[in-house]
Amino acid sequence: MQISILLVTLLGMAFVAAAFVFVVRNSGPRDEDYGGVAKRGYLIRRWWMIGLCALGVLVSAWSLIPFPLQASSVESPRIIQATGRQWSWELGSSSVEVGEPVRFRVTSLDVNHGFAIYGPDDQIIAQTQAMPGYSNELDVTFERAGKYRVLCLEYCGLAHHSMIAEIDVTEGR
Ligand code: CUA
Repeated sequence: MQISILLVTLLGMAFVAAAFVFVVRNSGPRDEDYGGVAKRGYLIRRWWMIGLCALGVLVSAWSLIPFPLQASSVESPRIIQATGRQWSWELGSSSVEVGEPVRFRVTSLDVNHGFAIYGPDDQIIAQTQAMPGYSNELDVTFERAGKYRVLCLEYCGLAHHSMIAEIDVTEGR
């Protein structure tokens, strides 16, 4: 059965190939038909081709420009270690002053978690991944005082929803 299917397939492929060769043999420009037009056509086609290639090179070069991640302009932010595990957050510190540049070093002890900071109005203000064996840096400068919450943004098991930590942001002196 397998063999006959293979044979039929090969026969079909041979037929398509033969048809292809026939068409290629019997087509192609015949100068007596359209000599002048063809010449003009080729000229247009050549410049169109050159233009497309140039455009392709430009677009490729442009797309290689590094992804515009915001460069960190903060000289010496306060470092706060943030570690996620099933199912809690551990923050090196949970109180920050308004306007104080903070850099969270975010990692995980087990699986991937999503480290997300929510403002007092429950709007998300910053987030990054908490990954085992890797530290992600997240620069945040809190602009308003209040109670902020850290929630997990990536489903990580049964008690995913209970990964909540608080950050107290106070007015500086
Ligand atoms: Cu950790 Cu969801």
